[in-house]
Amino acid sequence: MNAEVKISPLTFPVANVPSTASITGRAPVHSPEERQALIDEIKAELRRQDAVLVAHYYTSADLQMIAEETGGYISDSLDMARFGNEHSASTLVVAGVRFMGETAKILNPEKRVLMPTLEAECSLDLGCPAEPFTRFCDENPERTVVVYANTSAAVKARADYVVTSSIAVKLVDHLDAEGHKILWAPDKYLGSYVQKVTGADMLLWNGACVVHEEFKARALGQLVAEYPDAAVLAHPESPEAVLQLADVIGSTTQLIKAAKTLPHQEMIVATDKGIFYKMQQAAPNKTLIEAPTGGAGATCRSCAHCPWMAMNTLDNLLETLRTGRNEILVDETVRIKALRSTQRMLDFAKTLTD
Ligand code: 13P
Ligand code: SF4
Repeated sequence: MNAEVKISPLTFPVANVPSTASITGRAPVHSPEERQALIDEIKAELRRQDAVLVAHYYTSADLQMIAEETGGYISDSLDMARFGNEHSASTLVVAGVRFMGETAKILNPEKRVLMPTLEAECSLDLGCPAEPFTRFCDENPERTVVVYANTSAAVKARADYVVTSSIAVKLVDHLDAEGHKILWAPDKYLGSYVQKVTGADMLLWNGACVVHEEFKARALGQLVAEYPDAAVLAHPESPEAVLQLADVIGSTTQLIKAAKTLPHQEMIVATDKGIFYKMQQAAPNKTLIEAPTGGAGATCRSCAHCPWMAMNTLDNLLETLRTGRNEILVDETVRIKALRSTQRMLDFAKTLTD
């Protein structure tokens, strides 16, 4: 069966997306000595405070390196949730975007969850406010509600299941086999990709990632012609025409694994450029090429860097550790409801073999 994709006409355009350039321009520039002093002080604070740093692949190489060197973790959003849930530290410091900190708090109410900044949002989360989303669900009561992890705690509280890109196809396939009709939110590109692979009956919320939506299929096609032996790796938040050119579609962790295991020497990568820090470590002898975001006439070939991830800096990480500011708090009634759908994600992930 191959049900048609239905996309909700509702859209919530995201106002005030900070430009990466303006954020980078505001981030303090440090001498090598100042940078090292900040890194040393952050490491000492992490020890002093029984804290562990959990960083997403899209954060800066400095933050990823600190996580790596202090027994913390760098990963995709599913594994960030898993790691925080299993680690014994009393404080989790989440370098990423707000929904990642909220997920950590939903799963670990007894732990203090800090973030370098509370301003780091996500266009998918911002484009799916709880009130209209709840109405959308109420209007479609026959559907099982599956939401991407890139959502607020309030949206997770209304959902039956939470998923990340690493397990979305498998979970929807499983629900489809059980006869469920799905209401999916918020990423229409990921939703539409999952629908095509599984054939499930899916009604989609009309949201998108401002970073991945910018990848350009025509320019990517030209790059593929320039590098005919390269493999194309793409995150499923990218538009359908881009995914059609991909050899591997997967979460950030899955793309890094593919870079390592594929026989190709060259990889064209359609996701945030922060991923190159770990991808190059995993595949040191391979050539990694950024997929194009700029069409003809653009001044940069690829501007794929999440403006909110870029708000996490050495300075605000140290400030947060010193002051305890930027603690993530989730209303307890909302948290208990959101825990149900989020825990289902972890429980389902446990049943998978890879
Ligand atoms: P991953 O779960 O693949 O890390 O994706 C999170 C994200 O926000 C990608 O834009
Ligand atoms: Fe959200 Fe896109 Fe940034 Fe990921 S890259 S956090 S989906 S805005």
